[in-house]
Amino acid sequence: MDYLADRMGPLGTESAFEVLAQAKGLEKQGKRILHFEIGEPDFDTPAPVIEAAKQALDDGWTHYVPAAGIDMLKEAIQEYIERDRGFRPESEQIVVTPGAKPIIFNTVMALVNPGDEVILQDPGFPIYGSLVDFVGGTIKAVELKEENEFRMTPDEVNEQISPKTKLIILNSPQNPTGGVLTKADIEGIADICEDNNVHLLTDEVYSQILYDMKHYSPAVRDQCNERTILLEGFSKTYAMTGWRMGYGVMPKELAKRFTQLNINTISCTSAFSQVACATALRMDQSGVTDMVAKFRERRDVIVNMLNDVNGFTCLKPEGAFYVYPNISGTGMISSDVKEVLMNQVGIAALPGTAFGYTGTKHMRFSYATGVETIREGMEMIQKHFN
Ligand SMILES: Cc1ncc(COP(=O)(O)O)c(C=O)c1O
Repeated sequence: MDYLADRMGPLGTESAFEVLAQAKGLEKQGKRILHFEIGEPDFDTPAPVIEAAKQALDDGWTHYVPAAGIDMLKEAIQEYIERDRGFRPESEQIVVTPGAKPIIFNTVMALVNPGDEVILQDPGFPIYGSLVDFVGGTIKAVELKEENEFRMTPDEVNEQISPKTKLIILNSPQNPTGGVLTKADIEGIADICEDNNVHLLTDEVYSQILYDMKHYSPAVRDQCNERTILLEGFSKTYAMTGWRMGYGVMPKELAKRFTQLNINTISCTSAFSQVACATALRMDQSGVTDMVAKFRERRDVIVNMLNDVNGFTCLKPEGAFYVYPNISGTGMISSDVKEVLMNQVGIAALPGTAFGYTGTKHMRFSYATGVETIREGMEMIQKHFN
């Protein structure tokens, strides 16, 4: 495609969508596929949020609104961050976007020059590396180790720091491993950012999906006034993936630039959806607690059953809704296991290589699906490998 601009060359993708398309193709041919590839809660968006959106449409929230977000939602975000993270950001620090993903895009666009280095977790959410490549930055990957329960330690970050480091990207609870950083890890990494004058993007979209640990955000350190960009969203916490609603909290000067990027790309985020998201943050949160209790039950089932598959070993993750079993005992690499699961077993799951260079020994299963489906799927895998 020689008509494309050169800059499109390095842009990567998220192969979850490709595996989903492959699975759908097989389903069209009449094959039955159980889905463990998709990273979205299978629950319905809470009824009060849907009601609030309908009411907002009736009330005329159908026009352009401010590019950084409406006051009603920003106030609800201020209350939520204060309640959950312990500090109250100013309204001018908040930028609302269609999904949390644009906060990643805006961060990399606004901060990373060609040749700048960005430290990130490997395996990790593939969009980070894709965008760093896109702008000509250099990825400095910290390999997450199973023996560390997939935590990125401050020592490992220190090994990657150089005068060229511009940004560190943290994701905890983490996709794809479900790993959760300890308070000490986070404090240590925040210290490194301060000492080296490096920005920190903390992707906290799974902050509410935690089992036994308490969420700790590095944003408490500078309250997003100096170097921290806190990314949050509605997709995972409130089962709102299709609504496309997220936001960032950041230093005010950066928020102005993010707003400018919004103006250049999306103008503003859907007005009535913003009203509904204010309701999501302000309503009784017991639905979220119930959802997490269901995820916990599913996690326990999938971990136990994967550990009974010959050649698989699986840690019990502390957060998110993914497991990241080691499949090296099968004698196969993950891309081959993915094909066997898809074509011979009828299971769609992602190879670890979808999340970085280190993923040849691992698969990612999303357990955001009913417990009966999990049991059936894991029995099918056991039957094949045992
Ligand atoms: C780690 C991580 N960050 C960000 C996102 C983006 O979420 P959304 O754009 O739906 O808010 C996802 C979605 O899968 C994710 O796993």
